[in-house]
Amino acid sequence: NTYFVIMAGGIGSRFWPASREAMPKQFLDVLGTGRSLIQMTYDRISPLVPANQIIVMTHERYRSLVRQHLPAVPSENILVEPSRQNTAPCVAYVSFHIAARNPNANMVILPADHLITREQIFQNTLIQSVEYVTDHTDILTLGMAPHRPDTGYGYIQLGQATGEKNIRHVDAFKEKPNLSVAKTYLEDQNHVWNAGIFISSVATMITAFEQHATEIYNILNAPKAYGSKAETTFIQDNYPKTPSISIDYAIMEKANNIVCFVVDIGWSDIGTWRSLHELKRGTSDHIVTNNPKDDYYITQSDSLMIHSLPGKKMLIKGLKNMIVIDQEDILMIWPLEAEQEIKTMREELSSKW
Ligand code: GDD
Ligand code: MG
Repeated sequence: NTYFVIMAGGIGSRFWPASREAMPKQFLDVLGTGRSLIQMTYDRISPLVPANQIIVMTHERYRSLVRQHLPAVPSENILVEPSRQNTAPCVAYVSFHIAARNPNANMVILPADHLITREQIFQNTLIQSVEYVTDHTDILTLGMAPHRPDTGYGYIQLGQATGEKNIRHVDAFKEKPNLSVAKTYLEDQNHVWNAGIFISSVATMITAFEQHATEIYNILNAPKAYGSKAETTFIQDNYPKTPSISIDYAIMEKANNIVCFVVDIGWSDIGTWRSLHELKRGTSDHIVTNNPKDDYYITQSDSLMIHSLPGKKMLIKGLKNMIVIDQEDILMIWPLEAEQEIKTMREELSSKW
């Protein structure tokens, strides 16, 4: 009675201009593996659960993309949101939906766009986590040791042991701290990064909304509407009324029944161009995705993250610490260390371009 929920409705704006509103990064093969990020997410969990217990949450615009990428997921398990309200309303919606199918169910909420290299350990972690939430009314997060003061993550302050191996109580949760705060977290060695994966019973999650995100709870709490034909109409009419906020701010920062499973699963949030660069840097200092070696010549350069169109020839000399993204209609050359600005630039430009 465990449902696996993939959240795949984001627009991946820090991966602009490769990730576009019409084709966000979870549908791109940014790693050059032949599988998109959402397909890799699916491949990682499919050994654990039958496809009819995998639910994909997305914006209605991406319904057909999800069907194309994940043909094994039954179409009634693709739940679409009529508007973009961020992850808190999305989690509330799916919790009510699952509760209507089975009020005693557990759920594992997963982002669609991460890389996890140690799959076997990850799968064992999920199995243990589900066992934990079967016996405890807690929301379980996965935490990883941080290695840089990244301001794009949530930070979990670890508390006392729970008695279960590697699972700790959480004293505080801070979403996306500023740089100086992130630095203190990195130094005190008592904070871990939030992986963005949440495991709980649906009942625990619904109670958390009732207590901490009352507005969302009140708008979406209509048990009779779920699991029947009325659900689509109810969601069309009411979902857009919910406040737009992420689960991290709405629930994780507020709830006091959060626990954290500290893991080492080879996790990376491929959230930005720099994180992709860091991830692949082991092989060479110029990371070129999408283009075969014969197509580029790079010299006297250092630390480049390049993503171009297949077939495009490139010649680069004397360029350092840059992101170079070449798309049909947009060329972006941008410092690696200023990558967090890409999101704001995209927003500024989207009205003009
Ligand atoms: N269905 C749906 N609807 N999915 C959404 C929506 C939405 O409105 N908004 C975002 N998503 C999906 C994204 O596609 C992604 O898979 C996941 O939800 C997380 O959203 P992000 O926008 O990528 O969140 P973030 O990276 O800024 O922060 C979260 O993840 C970090 C780790 O990668 C937080 O949980 C942080 O605390 C965490 O450290
Ligand atoms: Mg993310």
